Amino acid sequence: MQQVKDEVWWVGVKDWEIRRFHGEEYSTHRGSTYNSYLIRDEKTVLVDTVWTPFHENFVRELDEKIGLDHVDLVVINHAEQDHAGSLAYLMEKIPAVPIYCSKNGAVLIKKHFHRDFNLRVVKTGDTVDTGRNKLVFVDAPMLHWPDSMFTYVAGANVLLSNDAFGQHYASYSLFNDQVDAAELYQEALKYYANILTPFSKLVRAKIRELTGLKVPVEMIAPAHGVIWRDNPLQIVEKYDQWASDYNEGGVVILYDTMWGATRKMAWAIARGLERKGVRVKVYNTARSDHNDLVVEVFKSRGVIVGSSTINRGILSSTAAILEMIRGLQFKEKVAASFGSYGWSGESPAMIEDRLREGGFPVAAEHLGVQWDPSTGDLKACEDFGEAFAGVL
Ligand code: FEO
Repeated sequence: MQQVKDEVWWVGVKDWEIRRFHGEEYSTHRGSTYNSYLIRDEKTVLVDTVWTPFHENFVRELDEKIGLDHVDLVVINHAEQDHAGSLAYLMEKIPAVPIYCSKNGAVLIKKHFHRDFNLRVVKTGDTVDTGRNKLVFVDAPMLHWPDSMFTYVAGANVLLSNDAFGQHYASYSLFNDQVDAAELYQEALKYYANILTPFSKLVRAKIRELTGLKVPVEMIAPAHGVIWRDNPLQIVEKYDQWASDYNEGGVVILYDTMWGATRKMAWAIARGLERKGVRVKVYNTARSDHNDLVVEVFKSRGVIVGSSTINRGILSSTAAILEMIRGLQFKEKVAASFGSYGWSGESPAMIEDRLREGGFPVAAEHLGVQWDPSTGDLKACEDFGEAFAGVL
């Protein structure tokens, strides 16, 4: 239990050892935290809980520190298990305590827990006086679930933003000015690229709405990672940039290969791009972390994907990353595909289709090479890279 500011306290869990999140979908190289907050005012308010495996410790410690009988109300900003997972166990101890949540939150809480909690539905602008502070609720649907909501603590002027502005980053320290800024931004950007990209239009609208309120925001306290205490609006400005069809220029080439032919093609394409002064990165999709590759796609202006043809299709590691980037629906990027084959050669055209499904304009006709590339084939790959540089 650690004081955040005035009556706002952190009562979360630091999960130092977690390395996969959302099942196995998201790599968490630096662990994560599940940030629960306590407003210790004339009323005592618990905002969000922690992930299910930690429920017993979480509730016991809360009881030891403040006494569960003192909790007057609970706010659930978001019903996903990493934040609401301890709710059922907690409410067994304090069943009459009201739970404040969004309209969609009430539906999701019922669908997850199948119990009759004392739910109080709130919407943007609704408030609860806690004494010195006032809670102001702000709906934030699809940032990143339909139920997502922010709670602004007026008085302490702390925005409890749940997933928004978070990072999967476990650190001993609680605040942004106490951790390595480069690590922090790596994790914040990875979080945005992998989780929030599809909702960028809504992110931009929510930022306009929040800044339009003209309320003082002295800290932004998300539900994962560190709290933005030093210049808290820096992460809002970053989100505004990231949500605005972000790229840093350059090209990323993603490929997988059976016997090295597609790898040779990848490097020849990279040479062509480099010759035109384009910054290029090359990754084997079978040997790279896919969430890190999503970050590289997010940062790039151009994306070129290659795979050998196997069983009339795409190698599985490349197919997997294509499925991830299809769902994320990146904007303002251009793409192309390539690959070697033995006889049927479907892979490059199939990759092209997947890229189109992901919203990428395909800027060059796919390039296939039969068996191992000859000197002439490699020259064609270099030309392919040079031509692609022209459409960036
Ligand atoms: Fe951190 Fe959407 O849960």
